[in-house]
Amino acid sequence: MDVVEVDHPLAKARLTTMRDARTDSAAFRAALQELTVILIYEALRDAPVRVDRIHTPVARTDGYWLANPPLLVPVLRAGLGMADQAQKLIPDAQMGFVGMSRDEETLLPTPYMESLPDNLSGRPVFVLDPMLATGGSMKHTIDLLVTRGATDVTAVCVLAAPEGIQALADSGLPVRLVTASIDERLNDSGFIVPGLGDAGDRQYGAV
Ligand code: PRP
Repeated sequence: MDVVEVDHPLAKARLTTMRDARTDSAAFRAALQELTVILIYEALRDAPVRVDRIHTPVARTDGYWLANPPLLVPVLRAGLGMADQAQKLIPDAQMGFVGMSRDEETLLPTPYMESLPDNLSGRPVFVLDPMLATGGSMKHTIDLLVTRGATDVTAVCVLAAPEGIQALADSGLPVRLVTASIDERLNDSGFIVPGLGDAGDRQYGAV
């Protein structure tokens, strides 16, 4: 499985803000939005472009457009904080939604909502979720996409645990990962270490 770990001072600075336990919800959301721009930028680095001639005020030249904008799929709740910025960067992108919550005891994902196009064949898909911990939520989400014909999925995650990366790789699902950091490990409660805590709670407050 292809894994891209973004190595850039601006990404590290936003991630530091998110990791810092003193960061309040508003600042956390702002840092997540800014980091999302960097992650999406990296995720699209090799995306195919359509080329056509345009006129500048001075001359004719080549113009470039994304040939096949990805479907964006934020995983609720935490992925919602990445959705707006991703769509601002890719205004032509459509958006689907998956709602998933992880049982705090078993760490298994419980799906509670899905709103996805029926046919995803030939469409790249970007799944947006700040955290890849055990990988259960991401695997379940990608299963839903593959069932609809997706063969080109990118998981866009702020943090990834080695355990989650291994689980995705072992699954054989058609996915690559773009992340700002591969952290050390999961702790006994299934939290990423050093991590940033619970990305949903930190954005929206514990519910
Ligand atoms: C978190 C996170 C991922 C998932 C990662 O969501 O946003 O979706 O857990 O864990 P996994 O890789 O072990 O499946 P959570 O279930 O806390 O829901 P929330 O987004 O509503 O806070």
